[in-house]
Amino acid sequence: MDKSASELVGAEQFRLGMRSLASAVNLITAAHAGHRYGMTATAVTSVSAEPPTLLVCINRKASTHGAIAKSGAFCINVLRAGHVEHSRAFSGAQLGEARFSSGEWTRLATGAPVLIDALVSFDCRVEKEIAHGTHTLFLGRVEHIVAGGKGRSLLYADGQYGKFATLGERVLPGELPDSLDWGIG
Ligand SMILES: Cc1cc2nc3c(=O)[nH]c(=O)nc-3n(C[C@H](O)[C@H](O)[C@H](O)COP(=O)(O)O)c2cc1C
Repeated sequence: MDKSASELVGAEQFRLGMRSLASAVNLITAAHAGHRYGMTATAVTSVSAEPPTLLVCINRKASTHGAIAKSGAFCINVLRAGHVEHSRAFSGAQLGEARFSSGEWTRLATGAPVLIDALVSFDCRVEKEIAHGTHTLFLGRVEHIVAGGKGRSLLYADGQYGKFATLGERVLPGELPDSLDWGIG
């Protein structure tokens, strides 16, 4: 007898498989009605360079979800290898506004909180929302980018934090600038 797709692969098997997918660790932030919201997320993907667009996948139960949906904006703050405590704070060790006592914060075009010491921050305006299963996919048009200088990404794989190590040869020539601050328009 044929099995349906949901019988073939359950949520636990999916989560186990996903442990092997190494990802950069980010703080997704938003502001609404005078309050700041933020959470740790690895489900962040580049969608297109023209127009500059990024995708984040946010559980509908997360407190940041409503703030993104209502404000129509979010910021992706890419963490450095030394930012493990930020990641812990924003994934449950702290709650609400207390999460923002971890790090120094500012805001740019959209008003979403921007981590001053992030490896890079992408300030985004929501262009599209797609509901799927437990999550909403928010596509954001990048309005401003700030990079805080050289450093290595914080990574997450196999249920552990780690950091990027090069294997030698560069795939893309050239180095990142020490810092950059780009807005659109
Ligand atoms: C390394 C890591 C990656 C995560 N990635 C995501 C993600 O991509 N999307 C998501 O909805 N939750 C993700 N989470 C879970 C949220 O960070 C966590 O549930 C958070 O506490 C939600 O915020 P809330 O407590 O304010 O609701 C991740 C957690 C960790 C530790």
